[in-house]
Amino acid sequence: MKVLLTGGAGYIGSHTAVELLNGGHEVVVVDNLSNSSVTAIHRVERLTNKTIQFYEQDILDRPGLNEVFDKENIDAVIHFAGLKAVGDSVSDPLSYYHVNINGAISLCQVMSSFHVKNLVFSSSATVYGEPTKVPIDETSEITDAANPYGRTKLMIERILEDLCHSDPSLNIARLRYFNPAGAHESGEIGEDPSGVPNNLLPYVTQVAVGRREKLTVNGDDYPTPDGTCVRDYIHVVDLAKGHLAALNRLQQKPGLVTYNLGTGKGLSVMEIINAFESVNQIKIPYVLGPRRAGDIPTSYTNPDKAIAELNWQAEKTIDEICRDAWRWQEKNPEGYRGA
Ligand code: UD1
Repeated sequence: MKVLLTGGAGYIGSHTAVELLNGGHEVVVVDNLSNSSVTAIHRVERLTNKTIQFYEQDILDRPGLNEVFDKENIDAVIHFAGLKAVGDSVSDPLSYYHVNINGAISLCQVMSSFHVKNLVFSSSATVYGEPTKVPIDETSEITDAANPYGRTKLMIERILEDLCHSDPSLNIARLRYFNPAGAHESGEIGEDPSGVPNNLLPYVTQVAVGRREKLTVNGDDYPTPDGTCVRDYIHVVDLAKGHLAALNRLQQKPGLVTYNLGTGKGLSVMEIINAFESVNQIKIPYVLGPRRAGDIPTSYTNPDKAIAELNWQAEKTIDEICRDAWRWQEKNPEGYRGA
């Protein structure tokens, strides 16, 4: 298949590109490089010994996007492009609604005019908001997400549902990621947040490499075994493979499908620090701080639906996540900027 990745130069997009190319697919990437680097594309090409058709292109620019679809004969789209910083979405909600919602609409309109029927959408476990029970499965109640970023994911999910109702020939997979972490085992591609990392693993690796002095653990008084929040950390390479499984599924079961992608195992912030320290033999200085606004105590998936229907399961351990995240950071202390 020829697969178009929007946001394909980003963290999850670049890892998915590797898996697609290794799986014999052709890859076209559209990315405006607003929060990513073309170096990631070059490194994916080097890792796989294959070529990517890369377009520095904003999905909000419909004529430009049209040209890409006109040139390439796209079979399926995986839509990663979007803004993703929760804090920024609270301070600047309009940018989030504009870029994420209009971006998805623009993409779907262009897909429609070129009769491209297959779409995998990068959604998030954040759509579940504060879960009423864990583990979270796909039937768990969804009322509202906790912040504008999460709401854009929820709204796009609903737009896609409406779209499938209006056009039964469409095949759409909504993938709700838990906590993507780690990096490609080569250490050539990985997570490269701009500014201060919001997420745990990139913060830990930046402390390890000396870019930050210490980690602050956001709260140790949660109703969890050690008082720190529990999350479902999934290796980004496992997550990338989940996208291939979803593409396959769309060929067998047309229509709208929804899957949680996680490991099914919850780990606390302290367990992550301990795993990172022991696997990499590096001390992570940390202090206990207050709770972070909007955090929920515990989130992890029930992976059964994905295992049964996608024939896919996360395989890599937390030790591999910690080892690979560190290999990437150690080889690229300044991320792609140092390349
Ligand atoms: C966060 C977002 C979520 C988004 C996801 C993307 C919030 C409330 N949620 O999820 O919407 O989809 O990232 O990956 O921002 N932690 C520390 N110290 C740090 C950083 C994090 O203790 O310096 C803690 C957090 O408080 C949390 C855990 O580590 O308890 C995981 O945090 P994070 O990696 O940001 O993931 P989520 O909060 O699950």
